[in-house]
Amino acid sequence: MKVLTLDDFDLKGKTVFLRVDMNCPIDPVTMEILGTKRIEEAIETLTALKDAKVVVASHQGRVGNNDYTGMDKHAKVLEKLMNRKIKYVEDVIGEAAQNAIKNLENGDILLLDNLRLCAEENYEFTPENAAKTIMVSRLSKLFDLCVLDSFPSAHRSHPSIIGFPQVIPACAGKIAEREVRNLDKIMTIAKAPHVIVLGGSKVPDRLEAIKLLIKNGRADHVLLTGLIGNVFMRAQARIKSPLGIKREDEVVAKAHALIGEYPDVFATPVDIAIDKDGQRVEMDVREMRKEDKIFDLGPKTVDYYSKIIASAGTVFISGPAGFFEKKEFSYGTNALLKAVANSMATTIVSGGHLTTALKQLELSDKIEHISTAGGALVLYLTGEKLPMIKALEDAAIKYRSK
Ligand code: 3PG
Repeated sequence: MKVLTLDDFDLKGKTVFLRVDMNCPIDPVTMEILGTKRIEEAIETLTALKDAKVVVASHQGRVGNNDYTGMDKHAKVLEKLMNRKIKYVEDVIGEAAQNAIKNLENGDILLLDNLRLCAEENYEFTPENAAKTIMVSRLSKLFDLCVLDSFPSAHRSHPSIIGFPQVIPACAGKIAEREVRNLDKIMTIAKAPHVIVLGGSKVPDRLEAIKLLIKNGRADHVLLTGLIGNVFMRAQARIKSPLGIKREDEVVAKAHALIGEYPDVFATPVDIAIDKDGQRVEMDVREMRKEDKIFDLGPKTVDYYSKIIASAGTVFISGPAGFFEKKEFSYGTNALLKAVANSMATTIVSGGHLTTALKQLELSDKIEHISTAGGALVLYLTGEKLPMIKALEDAAIKYRSK
């Protein structure tokens, strides 16, 4: 390991800044947390820090999106899961947060509010400039150690991720340590053909990553599902009406350019399922009417994709293939996961939805690496160095001998 871990530090009585990723799916109407997997994941590192004063920090959603909300609900979930008191402060860098940190006693856990309430946390910085942000200048004085465990946001150059290691010692938490170790091992045995099965909704991020994956020889076939599949079908003029997503013209144009540049790489659905009065109705993509909304893949597409998966050397699957939370539309997601689990390839499954689905299907044991990270993992596979890992490696050089 090129990074420091919790084992490298005497943690007793230390005040620790613990950056986790508790970014959970949120019900847009009730604003309740829909899946607590990422909160559960934080427990392992929190347990290892039981003798320290721990300040937990995370983002939730993006400013302007309907999953952008405070961390009070997360504190309650964590309290229930750990069956102990979790302190919570509705502040990030202000006086209330600073006083709450100063008043901590050994063994206390304090959760700060959504980091993205602080404007700086919504921008990418160089490490030097991240260290000069108000967040890092104010808070770093209060901490002995920064523990980075937010692997799902390891691709973000935000102050809370790359700023603190510039000024205080930093190490990886339990999740980050495991992810880096497993992925490094997997990447040494990964072999062609590389098959990427990509769904999910963060389309602009995904498009950038797809290009890098192909350019870096990490994607021989890209099998598209979910919203990103719809964007490519729109670029192929197979979906006739607008999808109604942000920056639609721009993303469709990018997808169009990618298909033009790499015509043999992409596969898009040939049949789909729509929701008609609560019922699943399957149809060929060519039969779709303007008003039809895609809820899942159809059996021909599953068969087509499964054959490509069966011949893969490495398979990476990220993002559900449809509205898998609804039983009638879970078919595509579950069928593709079964194809991945039963293939002879090295397999990586990414994202909270798929992790949950795998568990329900009792197939987790058949997968080489399972991660709740989405975009960060896609970017890791391109071979690009993730900012959080770079920050941890630099910190190891700087602080190892101290
Ligand atoms: C994720 O869920 O991918 C991470 O929490 C990062 O979130 P972001 O894409 O809003 O930075």
